[in-house]
Amino acid sequence: MTEYAASRNLPAPPRPRRGREGSSWRVPTALLALTIFPLVAGSLRLLELAGGPQVLPTNPRIDASPAPVVVHVVSAAVYAVVGAFQFPARLRRRHRAWHRRAGRVLVGAGLLVAGSGLWMTLFYAGAPGGDLLWTARLIAGSAIATSLVLGFTAVRRRNFAAHRAWMIRAYALSVAAGTQVFTQGLGEGVFGTTSLTTALSVSSGWLINLVAAEWLIRHPAVRRARATKEP
Ligand code: HEM
Repeated sequence: MTEYAASRNLPAPPRPRRGREGSSWRVPTALLALTIFPLVAGSLRLLELAGGPQVLPTNPRIDASPAPVVVHVVSAAVYAVVGAFQFPARLRRRHRAWHRRAGRVLVGAGLLVAGSGLWMTLFYAGAPGGDLLWTARLIAGSAIATSLVLGFTAVRRRNFAAHRAWMIRAYALSVAAGTQVFTQGLGEGVFGTTSLTTALSVSSGWLINLVAAEWLIRHPAVRRARATKEP
């Protein structure tokens, strides 16, 4: 209670809140935690390609053609890390110019992630997961690229709701690489490693992230905050 309120016997003013959007760090921290495993694996692969120690299992497709994986890992790191800071509403409002500038870079980085992923899907022969995962990768990569283009054109038309929705979908599908660490680990751990279990467990990572994205799109933070205040 302030001294003035105490002296006048007034109720204490509400404690300053961190804003309807909560902490600016919570969302980026959670998103970075999700992608930490593929990003560390990617960094180790880059280190190996640069002549460092071989820590990861050999990937003959990468040994035969390393360029797309270099583009893939570098663009994924930029997209996942910088992209995580585009989501907190507080950061967007306080640093609009940064959001715009970073957003343009992120559209490029996201297209490179999707493009290099599609490139490897089409030209790396014999990746685990067979035709089913091959098809899922084509769908996911195309969906990410399409979402980024639709998100970008939406903001040019100043349709912010559509911009938000498409950018959430693009990001959620891209960072499913993090969710897939868990779904693949669990799926193959429980059901064994076959082409089918690999395909289904990896694809379920995209599905989980897409469901989470659709939920977020339909339940914006502001609406959630209002709902909690209503009787
Ligand atoms: C933030 C997002 C992503 C991260 C951090 C990421 C990370 C990685 C890493 C580290 C590798 C190399 C694996 C190794 O060294 O053996 C890789 C490979 C690959 N990624 Fe991604 N990735 C992401 C998104 C995607 C997306 C959206 C697609 C979908 C098209 C994709 C498709 C592929 C393919 C096809 C390979 C090669 C698999 C193989 O032949 O072994 N990635 N990714």
